[in-house]
Parts: sequence; structure tokens; C-alpha cells
Amino acid sequence: MNAVPTITLNDGHTIPQLGFGVFQIKPADTEQAVRTALEIGYRHIDTAEMYGNEKEVGAAVRSSGIPRDEIFVTSKLNNGFHRPDDARRAFDGTLRDLGVDRVDLFLIHWPLPTRYDGDYVSTWQTLEEFAKDGRASSIGVSNFQVRHLEKLAAETATVPAVNQIEVHPYLTNEAVRGYDAEHGIRTEAWSPIAQGGVLGDPVITEIAERVGRTPAQVVLRWHIQRGDIVFPKSVTPARMRENFALFDFELTDEDVAAVDGLDRGEEGRTGPNPDEFDYIPS
Ligand SMILES: NC(=O)c1ccc[n+]([C@@H]2O[C@H](COP(=O)([O-])OP(=O)(O)OC[C@H]3O[C@@H](n4cnc5c(N)ncnc54)[C@H](OP(=O)(O)O)[C@@H]3O)[C@@H](O)[C@H]2O)c1
Repeated sequence: MNAVPTITLNDGHTIPQLGFGVFQIKPADTEQAVRTALEIGYRHIDTAEMYGNEKEVGAAVRSSGIPRDEIFVTSKLNNGFHRPDDARRAFDGTLRDLGVDRVDLFLIHWPLPTRYDGDYVSTWQTLEEFAKDGRASSIGVSNFQVRHLEKLAAETATVPAVNQIEVHPYLTNEAVRGYDAEHGIRTEAWSPIAQGGVLGDPVITEIAERVGRTPAQVVLRWHIQRGDIVFPKSVTPARMRENFALFDFELTDEDVAAVDGLDRGEEGRTGPNPDEFDYIPS
């Protein structure tokens, strides 16, 4: 009844449509949070080198007693490591810190089009090596706009399995989602509840009251019905359970359309604009 659906990616691998995100979870809290998420039933964890908690994610996966193959683990290449040799070293570091010999999915975290002479193509070709040698079952990108995806399509052989972008009711990001869908790229929606910023919206609270669910469940269910992959973050066990209970109710097409209608375009963006973002952690 409450089983998380599985999505088949363009490379044949499968991913649970609902996972658990660990952005902004302090390293000291991460192992416990991930252990709790795994106990609740989450089998997909989204981390990144930039989050500084890969070691603790790996420790939780190991100490859970759940076979490694039953947990889908994603990590991402940090912004300072786009040059091929740096990317190779960074990927080795990610595997070492996670304590695994393979990740399920590895992403370029940001395109950084104003850095590296605008070259994210050689970075992508380096990720292709990791897929070829089997150390990344799937590879993908994050925060890629349409023009960045078009460049990869023109100059490389592999279509990304996923594109992880900001999507929530105030930024429905339809142009990028549309490109993804047309090209067999699955969209992963980051900050799916806009870090809580959409939960007080009257359209959402009205639906929540009517269907007897919480605003977070309504928003996460909206993502699921649109076909996107989500991994809400919470350090609060009751919220982790709430965010996992999405598969025993459905929104009507009218309710999905009403939430679609909350889109504010660029004004709704809460994170950086991928065309301009050029942050490299020191
Ligand atoms: N690729 C990228 O550039 C990128 C960028 C941002 C995020 N991400 C990924 O996407 C994941 C999710 O995004 P996010 O962490 O930014 O934001 P989010 O999942 O939209 O929201 C997390 C926030 O909402 C609160 N929350 C969670 N469930 C709730 C509920 N049921 N009711 C009320 N409040 C609730 C959490 O509080 P508590 O923790 O205090 O409970 C936390 O403050 C990240 O963890 C990361 O894996 C990727």
C-alpha cells in the first residue's frame, strides 16, 4: 500500500521515486538522521561532497544492516573539481568517504557556465569514465539549464540519466522539465517544499484540509503525480514519517492543476540562478 514507486532511468537502472535529502544536516547529526530514515523505509539517500556529510551517510548505510544493493546512494561533484584530473580525484574521495566501491548516481552539482572557460563538457566526459568503469551505476547533472543540456547533447555521447533542479509550487521550472522529458532525462526536484516556504499557501492548505493530509504531503504528492523524483530533508522523525506517507492517497487532476497555477517563475526561485552561480568553496 505504501510502497515507493520505482522509476527506470534511460540507462536501464532503477531509482526509488522518493528519497531522503541530507543538505544542511550537520555531520554530527547525519548518521542518526539517515539511520532513522532507513528505519522508516527510505531506500534512497541524496548527498553531495559539498554537504560535508558523505562519511556519516556511509556510516549509516553500513550500520543499518540493510544490504548495500537495497539502498540507492547519490552524490555530486563539488564545484572546485570540474577539471578532469580534479574530478577523478574528487570521485575517488567520494567513494572513500562513503566507504563504498560504487555509487548509484553521480552528478555534476552545478554547471558553472562562467567558470572553467564555460567548459562543463570535459567534466561530463570524465563522469562518462566513471559510468564505464562501473563505479557510478548512473551519471547525471544538477542545475543544468536547457542551453547546458543542449551543449552536452551536441558534444557528448551520453544523455544524463537525471537533471536535479529546483522545483516546487512557486518555481515549477517547466521549460527545463519539458526539455528533460523530451530527451529521456528524469527530473529530480530539489527543495521540493521550498524548505517549508510553500506550506502556508492558502491553495495548498485548502487542499490539505479537504483531503485530510498535511500541506507537506500535498506538495510532495503533487511532485510524485507529475512524475518527478523527490528527496525531502528533515531531521525531525515525525516529519520524516509524514513525508514518507504519500502512496495511500491521490490528488485530483484539478488539485494538481491548482498547485501548478502557483508558479511565480523566476520570482519563485529560492536558490541561486544556475546561469550566474559561480561559487567555489574555499
Ligand atoms: N542539487 C542542488 O543544488 C540541491 C540544492 C538544494 C537541495 N538539494 C537536495 O534536495 C534535498 C531537499 O531540499 P532542501 O533540503 O533544500 O529542502 P526541502 O526538503 O524542501 O525542505 C527542508 C526543510 O523543510 C522542513 N520540513 C521537512 N519536512 C517538513 C514537513 N513535513 N513539515 C514542515 N516542515 C518540514 C525541514 O525542517 P527540519 O529538518 O527541521 O524538520 C527543513 O527545514 C536536499 O536535502 C538535497 O539533498 C539539492
